[in-house]
Amino acid sequence: MTYIVNDACIACKHTDCVEVCPVDCFYEGENMLVIHPDECIDCGVCEPECPVDAILPDTEPGMEKWVEFNRKYSELWPVIITKRDSLPDAEKHEGEEGKLEKYFSEAPGEGG
Ligand code: SF4
Ligand code: F3S
Repeated sequence: MTYIVNDACIACKHTDCVEVCPVDCFYEGENMLVIHPDECIDCGVCEPECPVDAILPDTEPGMEKWVEFNRKYSELWPVIITKRDSLPDAEKHEGEEGKLEKYFSEAPGEGG
């Protein structure tokens, strides 16, 4: 089992999650984070930290796609362990539908 980040994170990227992860398994893209499914120890402490409920256990229905998405980008993006400011329009994009299609960027974030 693992936890994953889904598209609710896109264009928000609050990063509260990274400070609590005991194994530093969050990776940063330009406008979202992902969790490495093979590094996550399923502790669950990050889930309540996300203000937009973007973190879910893979035991929820329909999560296979997100596990593979998280695996793919965690192998391409740098690790992030330090919280920073949310993206500038985070509030505007909270709860918006279709963020994957509209805003997702494959570009890596800064990490750090
Ligand atoms: Fe890190 Fe635990 Fe969240 Fe997995 S469930 S990403 S180990 S804080
Ligand atoms: Fe994203 Fe939520 Fe973390 S918005 S960066 S998963 S706190």
